[in-house]
Amino acid sequence: MADRESHLNPLAKSKSHNLPKNQQKSSKCLVYILIIVVFHSIMLFVFGSVVLPFKSPKVHISHITTQNLHYETAPLASLNMTMVSEIQVYNKNFGSFKFQNSSATLLYRNITIGMANIYGGRVEGRERKRMNMSLQVRANKLLSDYNFNLSSDIDYGLVKLSSHAKLKGEVRLLNILKRHRIAGMNCTMNLNLTSQEVQDLLCQR
Ligand SMILES: *[C@@H]1O[C@H](CO)[C@@H](O)[C@H](O)[C@H]1NC(C)=O
Ligand SMILES: *[C@@H]1O[C@H](CO)[C@@H](O)[C@H](O)[C@H]1NC(C)=O
Ligand SMILES: *[C@@H]1O[C@H](CO)[C@@H](O)[C@H](O)[C@H]1NC(C)=O
Ligand SMILES: *[C@@H]1O[C@H](CO)[C@@H](O)[C@H](O)[C@H]1NC(C)=O
Ligand SMILES: *[C@@H]1O[C@H](CO)[C@@H](O)[C@H](O)[C@H]1NC(C)=O
Ligand SMILES: *[C@@H]1O[C@H](CO)[C@@H](O)[C@H](O)[C@H]1NC(C)=O
Ligand SMILES: *[C@@H]1O[C@H](CO)[C@@H](O)[C@H](O)[C@H]1NC(C)=O
Repeated sequence: MADRESHLNPLAKSKSHNLPKNQQKSSKCLVYILIIVVFHSIMLFVFGSVVLPFKSPKVHISHITTQNLHYETAPLASLNMTMVSEIQVYNKNFGSFKFQNSSATLLYRNITIGMANIYGGRVEGRERKRMNMSLQVRANKLLSDYNFNLSSDIDYGLVKLSSHAKLKGEVRLLNILKRHRIAGMNCTMNLNLTSQEVQDLLCQR
């Protein structure tokens, strides 16, 4: 009878017989899991810092429109307009890039003639984020030297401008690894007064 029972239910027998060994096994298992977790964290750190460098995201202006463009050369050179620029942030890291509030400047030669707010945000890994910024240009109180230059540029019909921005933020990989990174933007362009459009837009990549 006993033989037959064990034949019928071999699992029950072996289970009760091997219980202490199984407990030993499961605690060993825990240690292995712990070792694997620690090993993975180390590997992730090494991988994240060495194999996958934290790159600075790229920012550039993708499109510009001008509105309410007014200019004159006498008595003093002046240039007023609203410039709406679409900027693109490309985060080529695998982790997300979270950036703080910032601003973009528009320069005529080396004089700031306009500023726009760039609101903080987040760009997921390997993705692009587009944002519009609106910038009021009031170039009517330039230093006398630049007044002469702006006058001649307006007469020629083409005003050379540049725009710069710095997005400071943090690249995060799986919420474990973080690095501060700055995405910088340097663009040059020509404002064509005849077409009232921006042409020759060129951004350093
Ligand atoms: C530009 O704006 C300033 C200040 O609002 C004004 O004094 C100037 O006359 C304007 N220039 C033009 C060409 O509209
Ligand atoms: C960013 O700008 C927005 C709008 O002006 C403001 O509400 C927010 O508090 C700013 N964030 C920081 C971190 O300054
Ligand atoms: C622009 O550059 C000139 C000479 O390169 C310098 O004298 C002037 O101070 C600069 N102006 C600004 C606002 O940086
Ligand atoms: C920016 O403005 C342009 C023109 O108004 C519009 O076509 C575009 O969709 C806007 N982009 C964003 C991200 O709001
Ligand atoms: C800018 O104006 C100054 C005079 O104030 C002149 O010497 C200089 O050649 C001008 N620069 C250009 C690029 O037109
Ligand atoms: C933009 O120009 C500044 C000053 O010339 C330079 O330090 C910075 O590296 C440039 N950034 C990019 C993205 O080209
Ligand atoms: C400015 O725009 C007008 C009209 O689109 C064009 O005919 C002219 O060639 C442009 N000027 C320059 C210097 O490109």
